[in-house]
Amino acid sequence: MAKILEQLRETREFLKSQYADTPAIGIVLGSGLGNFATKIQVEKEISYHDIPHFPVSTVQGHSGKLIFGTLGGKKVVAMAGRFHFYEGYTMDQVVYPIRVFKALGVETVLLSNAAGGVNPNFKVGDLMIITDHIHLNVPNPLIGKNVEELGPRFPDMSEPYAKVFITAAKEIAAELGHPVREGVYYAVTGPTFETHAEYKMIHVLGGDAVGMSTVPEVIVAIHGGMKVFAMSVITDIGIRDIDNTITHEEVLEAAHAAEPKLTAIYEKLIERLP
Ligand code: HPA
Repeated sequence: MAKILEQLRETREFLKSQYADTPAIGIVLGSGLGNFATKIQVEKEISYHDIPHFPVSTVQGHSGKLIFGTLGGKKVVAMAGRFHFYEGYTMDQVVYPIRVFKALGVETVLLSNAAGGVNPNFKVGDLMIITDHIHLNVPNPLIGKNVEELGPRFPDMSEPYAKVFITAAKEIAAELGHPVREGVYYAVTGPTFETHAEYKMIHVLGGDAVGMSTVPEVIVAIHGGMKVFAMSVITDIGIRDIDNTITHEEVLEAAHAAEPKLTAIYEKLIERLP
């Protein structure tokens, strides 16, 4: 048996011994967006340290635990703290939790992130529903021998972000009175923020926002046959033609400020999921 399948079985057995219910929804929360987890009626929290084969989160602003519980009448599992490629994790480590979601029985993955705005109409604090992505400058997490049990060799990527969720989220946002943008998320490795020239290039290539996470996780979710919805909080505008320094603190601050709106949309979306 492939090593990854054995590892997943061990991780699954451990988690099932701690929490027996099957979560239908897996949630991955971005930088500065972890408070969403407080909406979950927590039934079990498990530190990444204690989970066999799980990497451990190091970045500032990430706490590093799996939260099992109920939200909007659904059983959910949420990652508080995700693994970024720029931290030095391998791609296999970055996406391991998504494979664990699948092994636990998760059918839908919801993700959030903080992202830089490259669409000149965007403002700091805007929410953007991710409708598509560009992931050509980052190693693909599926490179290597394909494990058929996990998914096909050449996954279709015509609808990485499920249209039904995008439509539902737009309706919910309108009902709540929270304007939302839609756009293409351009994935980079980081950890540097982009230069002026790079923000401009990303804009020209069709990106509306740029960020250092999410897409590897989305690819593995699609590979595993799960449905995906993702949103970005626009935390800085790199495309401006002015002196434009960007700091991690500013990113976290903008994410915190926009979080209640994002959280309200996700909560309602979870309520409406079948
Ligand atoms: N670039 C890349 N990643 C980011 C940014 C950015 O401007 N803001 C938040 N995450």
